Amino acid sequence: MTLNDEQKEHLIEAALAARKWAYAPYSKYKVGAALLTASGKVYDGVNIENAAYPSGICAERVAVFKAVSQGEREFDTLVVATSNGGTPCGACRQVLAEFGLDTAVIIVNGRGTVTQETSVRELLPGAFTPASLKAPG
Ligand code: THU
Repeated sequence: MTLNDEQKEHLIEAALAARKWAYAPYSKYKVGAALLTASGKVYDGVNIENAAYPSGICAERVAVFKAVSQGEREFDTLVVATSNGGTPCGACRQVLAEFGLDTAVIIVNGRGTVTQETSVRELLPGAFTPASLKAPG
């Protein structure tokens, strides 16, 4: 699905608005994500840090896990909003790859300016996917 400008703007606004709920007392780096599913629903997510640092989680994975836990498995577009246009970390790229390399990824900065439009395929070349587990013929 190719989003029109209005749909894209709506998704960007959702990611920007979500940033407000980021729990990032340690890094102070607030991340908001908004994931549009093939069914047309939007799941947002924020990074949630923890005093035991490795127990924290990124905004992108929160959005994906919220969606999957509601029965969604087909994703159309993910918007990630940070102060400076940061891109998804490796772990988030891997989690996204599980549900399709064609998911579009839009990166915006804190003002909502699009800094990059890409895809999971582009962000994770040579991804290890469910197909990788198939036995050789
Ligand atoms: N973070 C995300 O939420 N998404 C990313 O793609 C990169 C990093 C979070 C994790 C941590 O809470 C903070 O940003 C600094 O790394």
